[in-house]
Amino acid sequence: MAYETIITEVRESVGIIRFNRPKALNAINAKVIEELGLALEMMENDSNIAAIVLTGNEKAFAAGADINEMVGKNFVELHKDDFIKPWERIAECRKPIIAAVAGFALGGGCEIAMMCDFILAADNAKFGQPEILIGTIPGAGGTQRLTRLVGKSKAMEMILTGRMMDAKEAERVGLVSRVFPISEYLDQAIKTGKTIAGLSRPVVVIAREAVNSAYETTLNEGVMAERRLFRSTFALEDRREGMESFLDKRKPQFRNI
Ligand code: CAA
Repeated sequence: MAYETIITEVRESVGIIRFNRPKALNAINAKVIEELGLALEMMENDSNIAAIVLTGNEKAFAAGADINEMVGKNFVELHKDDFIKPWERIAECRKPIIAAVAGFALGGGCEIAMMCDFILAADNAKFGQPEILIGTIPGAGGTQRLTRLVGKSKAMEMILTGRMMDAKEAERVGLVSRVFPISEYLDQAIKTGKTIAGLSRPVVVIAREAVNSAYETTLNEGVMAERRLFRSTFALEDRREGMESFLDKRKPQFRNI
């Protein structure tokens, strides 16, 4: 399918979605969100695809929500249209999704990266929630997800000042999982996607659910949820295959059942 604002590609079992508004540093408008939703739907329904990489270009992952699109809006319009609601589609993705970030990931760009399962960054990446500099606040989960990822002090400082953090700082504080040279970051993200794709798909789904429950519950409830999910892997043939292959000293042959 041909899109206007994104480019999609499939490499073996990894779907790749690239933001493609280079002149606007991949600023995110309604069309981007609509097309991103369609691409995710297509990739979720494609049984060959087991993991997704979401990326931009070397200058920008995305420099935020499109300010041209927002400038003329008023409170009532935002409320009536439930502006931003469709963005949550990324967080609802049913397959593992990795953000591969080079350059700017600001405002809504940083928020979309944080909706992904984890972030791999290039060494030139810059993260920030600069909405305060243009008279507003993060609106796509930034105040919540950044705070959970890096803690209150760092999140508050970033959100109240609009300061950007570089890749090294982002890795140190836990916003980013790993940093690679710019020449490697995308290949590394795709390689990571392929690694996940080679594992048992139902177990990957269960593992995501367990980690995500840490966001939503108390420690005790989360530990109980994890225990139930752990037990549920014992209903899978892949669990038996994984353990037997270890004892047989051979590679597991997962069949996703
Ligand atoms: N929306 C619309 N256009 C944008 C944009 C945005 N968020 N960010 C950059 N652009 C456009 C610029 O207007 C410029 O367009 P023209 O060439 O037509 O003038 C082009 O991209 C290149 O940008 P700059 O010339 O500014 O490039 P730079 O290298 O000097 O600066 C930057 C880069 C620091 C990222 C700067 O562009 C910038 O500060 N961008 C805005 C960042 C921002 O405020 N993001 C938050 C938006 S609000 C939000 O996201 C709300 C939410 O939570 C959902």
